[in-house]
Amino acid sequence: MTKSSFKRIDGRKSNELRPITAKVGIIPNADGSALFAFGNTIAIAAVYGPRQLHPQHKQNPTKAFLRCNYDLMSFSVSERKKPGPNRRAQEISKVTEWALAPVLDLDSFPGTVIDVQIYILQADAGTRTAGINAASMALAHAGIPMKDLVCSVAAGKQDKELIVDLTKEEEDFKEGEGATDFAIAKVANSDEYTLLQLDGKIQPNIVSDVLELVNGACKEIYEAQKKALKEVVKK
Ligand code: CDP
Repeated sequence: MTKSSFKRIDGRKSNELRPITAKVGIIPNADGSALFAFGNTIAIAAVYGPRQLHPQHKQNPTKAFLRCNYDLMSFSVSERKKPGPNRRAQEISKVTEWALAPVLDLDSFPGTVIDVQIYILQADAGTRTAGINAASMALAHAGIPMKDLVCSVAAGKQDKELIVDLTKEEEDFKEGEGATDFAIAKVANSDEYTLLQLDGKIQPNIVSDVLELVNGACKEIYEAQKKALKEVVKK
């Protein structure tokens, strides 16, 4: 398929994100909270802490323990999904911790835990990336010292075309070379990547093109995150 004849299923350009919704302070009782949506994919995040970690033997005397918990609500997808944690959720919780930890000053809070609860209310692909964006905003809202925000989006290949922020329909695309889903997170104002999670195949020589596409998308995500955080500061 030539570049000119390429059309995404929902009519977007290859580098176009779905409409972003970003809000902060959605859960008053949490220390920090946020909602982040890419189109029909909606994630909320709540942060509690830093607070003393129990049981005590789990405490790290040199730094805080970042504990992320990702959960895809059973009503967020149209198929049947058993409520509660599963291996997929455990894996996403872990990679979310790894994606966020590099921007946090965990050494300032020894012996404590920072709990980050991420719930997916509606899923149309890209839930781990929307969850990371929401969590990054919620951590900033909680006033936890951070060197920067983390921005995250999935890129991919539909047949031969590179695209950003895939929908479920795009992720499931089977024609030609099929689809590739590459979830990426980066520190907003740097070239530091904190998540590179590839599902499918991508030729090594086009990885730099993927990163360029993602960097452009992350600038838009960062602006939306910042705007939402500034709204709260104004109040
Ligand atoms: O959501 P993300 O792309 O980060 O992760 P995934 O494991 O690649 O899942 C892709 C999509 O599949 C999700 O966003 C949901 O739309 C869908 N899904 C589902 O319908 N039921 C599940 N139990 C898990 C995922």
